[in-house]
Amino acid sequence: MDGLEVTMLRVGYPAKFAEEFLGDFPHEIQLIPLPGSLDREIDIDVWIPDPYAARAIKLWPRLRGVRLVLALMAGTEWIPGVVGPHVTICNARGAHNIPTAEWTVSAILAMLKHFPFYLDVQHSGRWMRRFEASGHYMDLTGDKRPLYPPVLVEELTGKTVLMVGYGAIGQQIERMLAPFDVEMLRVARSPRAEPQVHAVSELESLLPRAEVVVLILPLTAESQGLIGTRQIALMRQGALLVNAARGPIVDTNALVEALNAGRIRAALDVTDPEPLPEGHPLWSCPNLLLTPHVAGSSPQFGPRAMRTAADELRRYMRGEPLHNMVQAAI
Ligand SMILES: NC(=O)c1ccc[n+]([C@@H]2O[C@H](COP(=O)([O-])OP(=O)(O)OC[C@H]3O[C@@H](n4cnc5c(N)ncnc54)[C@H](OP(=O)(O)O)[C@@H]3O)[C@@H](O)[C@H]2O)c1
Repeated sequence: MDGLEVTMLRVGYPAKFAEEFLGDFPHEIQLIPLPGSLDREIDIDVWIPDPYAARAIKLWPRLRGVRLVLALMAGTEWIPGVVGPHVTICNARGAHNIPTAEWTVSAILAMLKHFPFYLDVQHSGRWMRRFEASGHYMDLTGDKRPLYPPVLVEELTGKTVLMVGYGAIGQQIERMLAPFDVEMLRVARSPRAEPQVHAVSELESLLPRAEVVVLILPLTAESQGLIGTRQIALMRQGALLVNAARGPIVDTNALVEALNAGRIRAALDVTDPEPLPEGHPLWSCPNLLLTPHVAGSSPQFGPRAMRTAADELRRYMRGEPLHNMVQAAI
């Protein structure tokens, strides 16, 4: 790409982003705020789509000349099908690491400390209901030892955590879990050493060892339905399944059945389907903490994602290798 082209780069971004977050972009470009809908076609070279896929998809037919997409999210599964193979796509790898890892650690602790139950107790205003926790613990884990005083919370320290997906966010979760001295089992697409990472083909042999299973991998043809009836059956009685990745990685019917049967517990930031319709059986499952896909959306996320996009754009303009490319234009 020659210098002349570079000075003419037109970068379309969602107009909802405040201008103060755009200060990191190179001065040699023209920033074009894109409204929620367009009644005419517009020429841009680089597209920063709205983080909400449905809004972005609506805009795409009005965009002409896009060569590079700089997504503000880590998950970009909808983009290749919309823009086609002649456009380079980069994600905002890294921008979600901190809030998503913090959500995951919070969800694990909330479940092991029985916070959803105690919130219910708080709303009922009845102190003595605390002793119900002991029965829940025994029923769910199958631990029938005559423990005294009664069990009212559990501990994370010393537990075995199986991390399925060991990328940017998985590694951040591991760093945040370090003070809890957990035994960490790691799974990714390909195995490696130091630290030891198992291949996904070993998943079924690892599931019975873990008290907490964290899903933090992209949704792909291979990962869809990775956790179904068979895999849940391999989990320990009362183990905690945490899905901070994408809903369809877990078979929803299998999960609903296992939760209702008191086999496992779960914390989900993502569901299949999404949005989860009113009255869906997941809403009322026992031993479940459910948040409506919020894990990455902290006040720091937007500015951080824009900085990530600006850094990638600078590399693109200099002709340097891109750090976060998920599709190279053909
Ligand atoms: N809840 C939220 O708000 C939220 C926010 C951000 C991200 N996410 C989700 O989290 C996912 C992970 O993000 P990230 O930034 O950590 O991604 P990343 O850095 O690209 O890492 C992905 C990891 O998943 C592994 N993986 C890929 N396919 C796999 C498969 N079929 N079986 C087992 N492991 C597989 C990869 O294995 P290799 O290391 O061998 O390549 C890698 O370790 C995103 O794709 C997104 O869906 C959710």
